[in-house]
Amino acid sequence: MNSPPQTAASEPGAAVYAAHCAVCHGPAGRGDGEAAGRFDVTPRDFVAAQYRFRSTASGKLPTDDDLRRSIVNGLGGTAMVPQDHLSSAEVDAVIAYVKSLSPRFAAEPAPQPMKLPQPSPRTAASLVRGARLYNEAGCHNCHGERGNGDGTSAGDLSQKPADLTRRPLKGGSSAADIVRAVVTGLNGTPMPSYHLLYDDPDIWALAHYVESLGVDHAEMTAQEKIGWEVEKRTPTAGNR
Ligand code: HEC
Ligand code: HEC
Repeated sequence: MNSPPQTAASEPGAAVYAAHCAVCHGPAGRGDGEAAGRFDVTPRDFVAAQYRFRSTASGKLPTDDDLRRSIVNGLGGTAMVPQDHLSSAEVDAVIAYVKSLSPRFAAEPAPQPMKLPQPSPRTAASLVRGARLYNEAGCHNCHGERGNGDGTSAGDLSQKPADLTRRPLKGGSSAADIVRAVVTGLNGTPMPSYHLLYDDPDIWALAHYVESLGVDHAEMTAQEKIGWEVEKRTPTAGNR
């Protein structure tokens, strides 16, 4: 369910935002909070509303559930650490507030999730097929032969390609999360949408292959450490 956009100053989301988001995302949501200079990737600009992690088609706005996932789980390995200290009412309120910061939510039709490919099982054969597709589809040009984010085009891009061996991934580490990223693309980045380019079993084979590249990193990234420090919070076992 998508909540209707609020007016900019409406409570109670404004208070949650000021207390927990503005330090990074900026008082008016422009991605220019006082801590913003410390991050590798600028905190999302909520006025431009180019959201990366969505279940909606390329170029579209996210659903409330997409925003909830990014807010509650955080984006793995980044300074956008899980906001799981907020109550579900506070999360709902801040979602409505963040949407009110961009005129796009009122102007555009309510965001609709795409129908994502039907899951197929992970088998030895699907992993072999996935590895082949990874090269055929040109993933290696950006993400590198082994998925380390060091492909031949990587240096030319406005956003560093993801290191696909790192866990957790920003948009979630499961094969379903990888399918969602590959099918919908990441708005505002060079990561394209592969919607309609491959049939369902092939998209899942690709996702299973990418899933298989993962290594769990016990150590926090430097960006995550800065995120917790800026927020003056301590990670708990559950959110690391
Ligand atoms: C410590 C800094 C920090 C705080 C506090 C913070 N964020 Fe973020 N946020 C970031 C950064 C940095 C990114 C971009 C990370 C990236 O894409 O690599 C981000 C990205 C996001 C995204 C982008 C998801 C997408 O699909 O593109 C959303 C939504 C978001 N933040 C919401 C919030 C909300 C709501 C709050 C407050 C409850 C909050 N953030 C608090 C740093 C922060
Ligand atoms: C033109 C360069 C480019 C190509 C080609 C490309 N990607 Fe990406 N991809 C990116 C960039 C850049 C990001 C990082 C965006 C970010 O960090 O916000 C990304 C992010 C991702 C993510 C999300 C990672 C996360 O942390 O959640 C996945 C999964 C992914 N790519 C898989 C693929 C697969 C599979 C292919 C081939 C079918 C592919 N990409 C092709 C540039 C590319």
